[in-house]
This record gives sequence, structure tokens and C-alpha cells, in this order.
Amino acid sequence: MLIVSNWKAYVEDTERAKSLYSLAKRLSKKTKHEIVLGPSAPHLGLLALKNKSKVKFAAQDVSVTTGGAHTGEISAQIFADLDLSYVMVGHSERRAAGETDAVVAEKARHVLAHGLSPILCVGERERDEGAGYLSFVRNQIGSVFSKLSQKEQLATVIAYEPVWAIGRTAADALPARDLGEMVLYIRKVVGEYLPGKAPTRTKILYGGSVEPGDARELASGSGIDGFLVGHASVDPTMFTGIIRALS
Ligand code: PGA
Repeated sequence: MLIVSNWKAYVEDTERAKSLYSLAKRLSKKTKHEIVLGPSAPHLGLLALKNKSKVKFAAQDVSVTTGGAHTGEISAQIFADLDLSYVMVGHSERRAAGETDAVVAEKARHVLAHGLSPILCVGERERDEGAGYLSFVRNQIGSVFSKLSQKEQLATVIAYEPVWAIGRTAADALPARDLGEMVLYIRKVVGEYLPGKAPTRTKILYGGSVEPGDARELASGSGIDGFLVGHASVDPTMFTGIIRALS
């Protein structure tokens, strides 16, 4: 499985960043799962540049601009130069700050143009009885996939993160059965762009209150390919617990 650790702005000192990286290196030696760390941009520079381990790195966001006179922006080329593997685009916390589907699509294109894989975050803010959340997620995926070539679509990882389940506790995560249904639905949507067997190759992650207490149940039988873990991934005991629960 692909376990992506989203540090958000939780980790604000270098010593803590280094110690979480050391933990990830130790864990990666003992597990078959792929561990990907998503630190802040300065910590990415510090850790990714010297990385010789199995641990991989993801940026939490990327600029919609390319290089040039854009003060404060971090372009996809800068991340490509650091040899990252992934870049998250469209995280709900970025969307809450005003990011539109069009901007998310543009960011995904920049990431792909530099040979990195976007982790496209999608997810409804709430679940309505009329299942309008399904078309909401379909539109979020479609607005990006419709701008990509098939090759680019295949390189894109989808992280399904229902916003209502983010930053809470294991008890508030999406029930495993509902996750299984959602994974099937997302594969169906992807299948409209990638006919044939290709949709089963698309990696789909789940994010939203993944903790040691729910990781195994969420993983078994849901068809998910991994997790995007927030708060529990910056707590050494919880992160270790998640990797153990999945082993
Ligand atoms: P959480 O965050 O694990 O703290 O719910 C997940 C995310 O926002 O990526």
C-alpha cells in the first residue's frame, strides 16, 4: 500500500522533522508498504535532498505559476529538482482557501509536466441523502481528468478525503463498507476516461481520521490502495501503530 503522511503545518521545528524522518526510515525497512512523507516546503528541501532511503517525498501543494517573477511561489520545477515523487493538489484545506477546480487542474498539469505524480485530493464537504455527493466527487475528478492525456491520467493518484471526516478520530472516519462503495464509484468515473482495464491500475487512497484503530478495517475489503494520513502521521506512536496495523 501507499501510505502518504501529510504533515500539514503541524511540524514547525527541524528536530521534530528529522526525528519523524528517522522513524519513517526505520519503519520502511520493516514493511512492504511505500511510505511517503509530506513535510512543509523548507523541511522537504532539508530532508529530500539527502534522502538515500526507501522513504519517498511529496509536496503538500504547488504553485499554479511556472518560474519567474512570482514572489512566494514554489513551482513544480523546484520540486522536480528535489527529486520528489508526488505532489498533493486540491487538498480540501487549499480548496477552503479559495482554490477552484480549474486551478487544481492547472497545478496537476504542471506537476505531470515535470515528471511527478499528482495526488489529486477530492471529497465532499457533507453527505446528503440524495447522494449529491457522488456527482460532486465526479465533477472534482472530471474537471482535472478532462484536462489530462491518458498517460497523465494513469500517473495520477486519487485521494478520496471526505471533508467531514478530516482531523477527527477513528470513530469519525468513513465506515469501511461505505469506503468500498466509494472506491468502486471512483473507479467507475475513472473508467469513463480510461476505458478497459486501466481504471484498476489507478491508485486510490483514503484520507480522513486514519488512526491505528481504524486503518486495518478500512484497508480490508474496501479495494483501497493506501492512505493519506494527517494528524496521526505526526504522532510517532500513532504512525507506527498504523504501519503495524497494516502489516
Ligand atoms: P487527518 O487528515 O488524518 O488528520 O484527518 C487527513 C488529511 O487532511 O489529509
